[in-house]
Amino acid sequence: MFRSHTCGELRLQNAGKHVTLAGWVQTVRKFGAITFVDLRDRYGITQLVFNEHLNNQLGEQPLGREFVLQIKGTVKERSNKNSVIDTGEIEIDITEFTILNKSAVPPFTIQDDTDGGDDIRMKYRFLDLRRNAVKKNLELRYAVNRSARNYLHENHFMDIETPFLIKSTPEGARDFVVPSRMNQGQFYALPQSPQTFKQLLMVSGYDRYYQIVKCFRDEDLRADRQPEFTQIDCEMSFVEQEDILNMFEELIKRIFLDVKGIHYTDAVERMSWENAMWQYGNDKPDIRFGMKICTLKKPTSVFTEKTDHAGLIADANFVVFDSAETVLAIAVPGGAAYTRKQLDELTEWVKRPQIGMKGLAYIRYNEDGSLKSSIDKFYSEDRLKLIADASGAQKGDIIMILAGTEERTRKATSELRLELGEQLGLRKKDEFKLLWVLDFPLFEYSEDDNRWVARHHPFTSPKPDQIKTMIENNPVIEDASNYLSHPYAQIKANAYDMVLNGNEIGGGSIRIYQRELQEKMFAALGMSEEESVHKFGFLLGAFEYGAPPHGGIAFGFDRLCSILGGSESIRDFIAFPKNNSGRDVMLDAPSSIEETQLKELQIMLRGEK
Ligand code: AMO
Repeated sequence: MFRSHTCGELRLQNAGKHVTLAGWVQTVRKFGAITFVDLRDRYGITQLVFNEHLNNQLGEQPLGREFVLQIKGTVKERSNKNSVIDTGEIEIDITEFTILNKSAVPPFTIQDDTDGGDDIRMKYRFLDLRRNAVKKNLELRYAVNRSARNYLHENHFMDIETPFLIKSTPEGARDFVVPSRMNQGQFYALPQSPQTFKQLLMVSGYDRYYQIVKCFRDEDLRADRQPEFTQIDCEMSFVEQEDILNMFEELIKRIFLDVKGIHYTDAVERMSWENAMWQYGNDKPDIRFGMKICTLKKPTSVFTEKTDHAGLIADANFVVFDSAETVLAIAVPGGAAYTRKQLDELTEWVKRPQIGMKGLAYIRYNEDGSLKSSIDKFYSEDRLKLIADASGAQKGDIIMILAGTEERTRKATSELRLELGEQLGLRKKDEFKLLWVLDFPLFEYSEDDNRWVARHHPFTSPKPDQIKTMIENNPVIEDASNYLSHPYAQIKANAYDMVLNGNEIGGGSIRIYQRELQEKMFAALGMSEEESVHKFGFLLGAFEYGAPPHGGIAFGFDRLCSILGGSESIRDFIAFPKNNSGRDVMLDAPSSIEETQLKELQIMLRGEK
């Protein structure tokens, strides 16, 4: 037997037991004739005592950090107990040891607070993975995986694998492509998601499918994006939106319970896309805190059903507000106490190019009820009070006001709200708030191509009562500057996103399942009949053979894990992640390939003679 116990297992009640352990040397501490060694494995750390005799042997072959050691010895009570670790009441009086393997000096110390920078830790990821902090993340990931599988299995979902070498599935990113040797000059695409396959499986009658599956997207990377990432991908037949929402909010609640011990008993909130944009300036609002946006002024072409408070700021000869398309306010709790310096810093913050505002106006609503503002040259105190009331401010708050073009100002206000929420400690890592965002627009206008693009993907069905609008109107946009007045801008999709603490953790839709409507959809996206048959003939064909009504969703598995683990970065929850340039620095990939491989593939690189 290589080992009788793990390094995390032995306790005081095991005192007197003869044991064999194996693991890595965490630390070596010499005290005169005795040496203490902390031996580490996946399960914990156990202290070893090398007596004088063994210590002498050690003298000839000194132990270094990360050496692999096997020891035999007896468990004994420690005189100097360590309450921080589970095995802290015992140590092993060793009788024999074998160095199973030596280790070079590791490039960083393998402990929770390591001295290794990000790059070096990624280069030596196999060492980084030995660290407790990373191990905990992977354990959490595995727990989420198990919980999801259990729930889905109990609900009769079947895990079915789908291929990786496929024809492109559009999910809005670029494809990674793979050249084919056997079909020269032709390429596979790696799936951006298994979307069309899961729909085909519905046509085949597998009415509840799931897969925890890799997806590949060549897009700009951020903390919550990787070029290859994992989805919990699901699809169901004979369902309506309501069935999907119920089934999958229960999945997430189950994961909360299994992984975090949280009984999420609140009803999952639901919000239309329009309300999310109106109140939070964002389609994935963080609803752990309030500070909703008050629209003082908006253009007539957007949020046509909503009313602004334009009267409150009009007729004051304040050119900044008068000339702005949109003026938005948020009331910041306790903000009346902000110092001049804090306000200057926030003003600089909104002026950064990423935010792009020209300035920040504010109204202090003091505890004594008086109002003081950066714009009181233009507005009387009575008017300021009306603005304060409209924005929902209480005494002691400050109202921050941004003005500019609609899209930019709403986005900037949303960012400012999140930043202030962060500063005020309102975005608590251990508080979890789920939200369904519903009724997304079906189409988005692409300025580059002057055409409509699918907001989710082209297989998403319009709301049933708006199918007519889609079929009866010509998709061509005559006046690009006024695309919002095109009937297509108003069509809503049977699509939904699940949002957790301001992050989109999942998205899906009820699908189109009739060939005719799918063809109309491709046409609406500017695809010719020929092109749609060339790209999606297999799906259109399948829809002719009894496709059932169906819908589904996919969750970002890495994202879900990172949020549950309280981290911003999904990389911490992936065993072997890529860096922000899409590189695996450990493998040094991507890399060039051999000339012979290129020849075999009949590929000549541009620039080659
Ligand atoms: P969608 O494109 O919204 O939907 O993706 C689903 C979820 O996957 C996560 N995600 C990512 N995570 C890490 N890195 C990325 N690059 C990345 N891109 C997306 C997000 C997102 O909510 N086929 C549809 C699903 C469906 O309609 O059923 C799809 O892929 O959390």
